[in-house]
Amino acid sequence: MGKLSASILSADLAHLADQVKLVDEHADVIHVDVMDAHFVPPLTIGPIVVAALRPHTDRTLHGHLMVEAPEALFDELSEAGMDVVSFHVEAVADPAPVIAKARGAGMGVGLTVSPETPIESVFPYLEDVDDVMVMSMHPGRAGRAFIPEALPKVESVRGELARRGLSADVEVDGGVKLDNARRCVEAGANVLVAASAIFQAEDLAAAARDLKAIVEAA
Ligand code: DX5
Ligand code: ZN
Repeated sequence: MGKLSASILSADLAHLADQVKLVDEHADVIHVDVMDAHFVPPLTIGPIVVAALRPHTDRTLHGHLMVEAPEALFDELSEAGMDVVSFHVEAVADPAPVIAKARGAGMGVGLTVSPETPIESVFPYLEDVDDVMVMSMHPGRAGRAFIPEALPKVESVRGELARRGLSADVEVDGGVKLDNARRCVEAGANVLVAASAIFQAEDLAAAARDLKAIVEAA
């Protein structure tokens, strides 16, 4: 069953709980972009805001860690109520111990690849992760254009998972809109991340509902 993940980066963060409540009927996951001003320029959201949001939704909270030292945040994020963390394969020298540390902190774990990174870089770890997130935009901000070269990477990792009898989630993150969502799903994604397509829409709930309908039909 496909899932919709609502990225709060484009939400009105002064009213975060209310914004999340508007969409979480249709969004299975709330995607939290954690950026440290080093791995990518902006400084965004950390454990304190995650803890504040946690009582307001029972949806999975998935942290997308665009930070240089993801393992340094695991304990605090877990205590704040984060359910799953994904970190960038480009950010660490050896993903294996970092994956183990996230599990040790009690969270699900995934790997993320930036647009310039070959998808094969996550293949050695597929047995150990719950999630592979393929970025279809350069990380750092919401609202950038969708990079279609992400789609063959989605196909490739979905094929490799199937070949090994694995069923990890495959996500597409970046520039996902109503007009490209179906292509992402057809390529093998079962989770679509969307920020501006949901939170910049006139009717947030309707935008989430329409995207969910596409990924659900997968
Ligand atoms: C970008 C973030 C994305 C972003 C998606 O660095 O990782 O999750 O919020 O934004 P949209 O859906 O607006 O392209
Ligand atoms: Zn993200």
